[in-house]
Amino acid sequence: MNEDMSNDVRNDMSNDMREEMSDPTNRRKVEHIDILNRDPGTDRNIRAFDAIHLTHRALPEFNLDEVDPSVTFLGKKLSFPLLISSMTGGDDALIRSVNRNLALAAEHCRVAMGVGSQRVMFTHPEARESFALRTYAPTTLLFGNIGAVQLNKGFGIRECRTAAEVLGADALYLHLNPLQEAVQPEGDTCFKGLADKIGEIARDLPVPVLIKEIGSGISLPDAMLLQARGIRFIDVAGRGGTSWARIEHHRHSDPDNDLGLLFQDWGIPTPDALRALAPLTDSGTLTLIASGGIRNALDMVKSIILGASLAGMAKPFIAPAMESPEAVIAKIESMRKAFQTAMFLLGTRTLAELRNNSELLLL
Ligand SMILES: Cc1cc2nc3c(=O)[nH]c(=O)nc-3n(C[C@H](O)[C@H](O)[C@H](O)COP(=O)(O)O)c2cc1C
Repeated sequence: MNEDMSNDVRNDMSNDMREEMSDPTNRRKVEHIDILNRDPGTDRNIRAFDAIHLTHRALPEFNLDEVDPSVTFLGKKLSFPLLISSMTGGDDALIRSVNRNLALAAEHCRVAMGVGSQRVMFTHPEARESFALRTYAPTTLLFGNIGAVQLNKGFGIRECRTAAEVLGADALYLHLNPLQEAVQPEGDTCFKGLADKIGEIARDLPVPVLIKEIGSGISLPDAMLLQARGIRFIDVAGRGGTSWARIEHHRHSDPDNDLGLLFQDWGIPTPDALRALAPLTDSGTLTLIASGGIRNALDMVKSIILGASLAGMAKPFIAPAMESPEAVIAKIESMRKAFQTAMFLLGTRTLAELRNNSELLLL
């Protein structure tokens, strides 16, 4: 950890953000992006996927243009299994433009997109507009998002239903973030009894509930708790990329509080979480999504081989989304080309041949 960077970020924050802090729920998202842009160390760049090697095929016995990386998820066809992971939303021009650019690109490229926590729209109705993305993405897969801990803070089926409706969501993510909440100055750490409440929402919501972490991974015991309550989709969101402990470290002003730094690399690396949960997918009742530290198409391919049906990236989309929809489209298209090339070099023509295929792993 570069302590100078940490102090610079904190000092700048207290200058730039003093007024904004008076409206914490709405401004938090802008602060997060600001911190991510100022401190490159918030992306931990652990590169756990680099330790996984794949079997090269010098004789694929088909042509590159015969490779079909498309996938159908929740009844919708995607051009390849990419998810723009949940990030943002709120009543702010920057945030509105980020979500608009991501949604336009997701629709154009036929990939999935999640929005960031929609809690803000219940305290700031003006924030709804940033989540009403069907204008820009009428057909592609869109996932809503609420922090599961809010189910212990007064949220229930009504709020979850509204969140899904405002977005026109195909599914609703409930995110689990105990580490972030524990480090966050204004964190909600009442996680008691959440599994049952998640199960009730999954039972009553008209669209599927997906569960995700935000960068520390989902373990086998947690997955089993969730599966027993009817959850059929888990995004492992493991360790390796964005560190929420480190981001939240920058958001407090106590120089003696190093909790966020101590825990900045806490959690289950994404490939390990996938390996741990893959056996639960055998019966066909659990579908996995990979995210957390996925930084290129090879990480995506490895995630699919380890059992995921989609692979998500968050942080790498921030810079292009702040620029334009075209910049996001260019990033997605170069990822798709690389993904298709990897499938060709692995001798796999379809996603079905790639997914959960341990024969492609070089031991
Ligand atoms: C700017 C930003 C905001 C995020 N906000 C949310 C959020 O509101 N809800 C959520 O479930 N995850 C949120 N995440 C977590 C991501 O969806 C993802 O799980 C995590 O960042 C790991 O992916 P990455 O390493 O590709 O960034 C956010 C990530 C970023 C970078």
